[in-house]
Amino acid sequence: MAQDYDPTQPETFESPHRVFHDLRARCPLARSDAFDGFWMLTRYADIVEVLRDPDNFITSVRNVVPGSSTTGRRPPLHLDPPDHTPYRKALERALGRGRVAALEPAIKRHAESLIGAFVEKGEGDFVQEVSSPLPALVFAEWMGLTEPQTGRLWLAARDYVKAFEAFDKDLVVSTGEKLAELAREVLADRRANPRDPKVDPTSSLLASTDADGTPFPEHLLAGCVRQVLVVGLVAPSILFASVVAHFARHPETLALLRADPWLVPAAMEEFFRLYTPYRGFARTSRTEIEMHGRMIRPGEPIALAYAAANRDDTVFPDPDEFRLDRPNISDHLAFGMGPHRCVGMPVARLELTHALRVFVDKVQSVEIIGEIGMSNMPEVGPVAMPVRVRAR
Ligand code: HEM
Repeated sequence: MAQDYDPTQPETFESPHRVFHDLRARCPLARSDAFDGFWMLTRYADIVEVLRDPDNFITSVRNVVPGSSTTGRRPPLHLDPPDHTPYRKALERALGRGRVAALEPAIKRHAESLIGAFVEKGEGDFVQEVSSPLPALVFAEWMGLTEPQTGRLWLAARDYVKAFEAFDKDLVVSTGEKLAELAREVLADRRANPRDPKVDPTSSLLASTDADGTPFPEHLLAGCVRQVLVVGLVAPSILFASVVAHFARHPETLALLRADPWLVPAAMEEFFRLYTPYRGFARTSRTEIEMHGRMIRPGEPIALAYAAANRDDTVFPDPDEFRLDRPNISDHLAFGMGPHRCVGMPVARLELTHALRVFVDKVQSVEIIGEIGMSNMPEVGPVAMPVRVRAR
C-alpha cells in the first residue's frame, strides 16, 4: 500500500500544518510506513470518537508513535483504566489547587531569571536558553528534587529528547536509563524520608494502593516516577518556542498583549490550540474496525494528531488565525481528552501563562535570525530557534 504520510520528511514551522490540512480534507485516516507502520487521524470528530471509547481504543499496547518504552511499563499512560486510575489519582493528589498555587513564586522567579538573562544578552537559541530549562526547573520544584538532581534531570531529559528526535534507539535506551536511575533514587529517598503526599508526587505514589489495597509494585512505581520525570518537559518547551515564533511573524499580537496584559491567559489558551505540541499520542483498537473505508486491525497503532484536530475548520473557523473570541476554545485537544487527559494541565497552564507575561513585559520585538530546528514525531514544533530580541 502506498503511504499517505511521511513524518520523516524535513519540516519547517508552517509545513506540518499544510500537510495536516491536506490530510484532513483528502485522507483523514492516513497510512504511514514510518516506524514500522501506523495510521494517523487528523479530523477533530474522528479523534474525539476514539478518545470517547477508551474500552476499545487502549494505550497499553502502544501509546505513542514512534516508539515503545525502553525501560518497561510506565503508568499512568501505559496502562488502561481501571488499572491506570490509582496511579493517576496518586499524581492528582499532589496537583491540588493549593499545591499548584504554591509553585507560582518559583515559576515567576525562574521565568524572570531565564527570560531576563536572555533579553540582556539580546540573542541566542531560545529553546536551549529559555523554553527548555524553564519546565525542567518548574518540574524539579514540583518533584522536590535537589539542585544536583535538577541539573541531572535537565541534561538527561534534553539528551533523551535529542535521541528521540534523531531516531537513535541506542541513545534513547542509554538516556532513558539515566532517567530511570534518577527515578529509582528519588523513590529510595522518599521511602526513607516520606513527605506530605499532597505535596510530593513520589510520596503520594508510595502511600497509594491498587483497588484491592495492594501497594504499587516496585517496577510500576519506578516506571511512573520515570514517566512523570520526562512527560512535562518537552511539550511546554516546544509550545513556548512556537509562541515566540508567532510573535516574530505577528508583532501585532505581542503589541496587543503588551497593551492589555489581562488578555494573556486567554491568549495562552488560544496558543495551546494553535501550537499544540503533540501529533503522536496513540491508541490501538481491541477489535477490527472500519474507518473512512479502511480496515484497522487490532494492535495497529493509530496516532491521534491533536495538533491537526485543533486546526479543523469544522470546529474552529479560520483555524490558522490567532483569535481571542472563540466561543468553544475550551474544546481544544491540546491536553487530550478522556481518562488519560493531561494530569499536569494546571501546572502547564500556570507555567506558560507566567512565562508569557514575563516575555510580554520584557520584550519589545523579536526576530528569528536563523533556521528553526523542528521536532520529529511524536511532537511538532521548534526544538532549536535562534532569535534576537529587543528589550522594552
Ligand atoms: C504544554 C504542556 C503540556 C501538554 C500540551 C501536555 C499534553 C498532554 C496530553 C495530550 C496528554 C494525553 C496523552 C494521551 O492522550 O495519550 C498528556 C498526558 C499526561 N501529562 Fe501532559 N502535557 C503538558 C504538560 C504536562 C506537565 C507539566 C505534566 C506534569 C506535571 C504532565 C503530565 C502528564 C501525565 C502524567 C500524563 C498521563 C496522564 C494519564 O495517562 O492519565 N503534562 N499530556
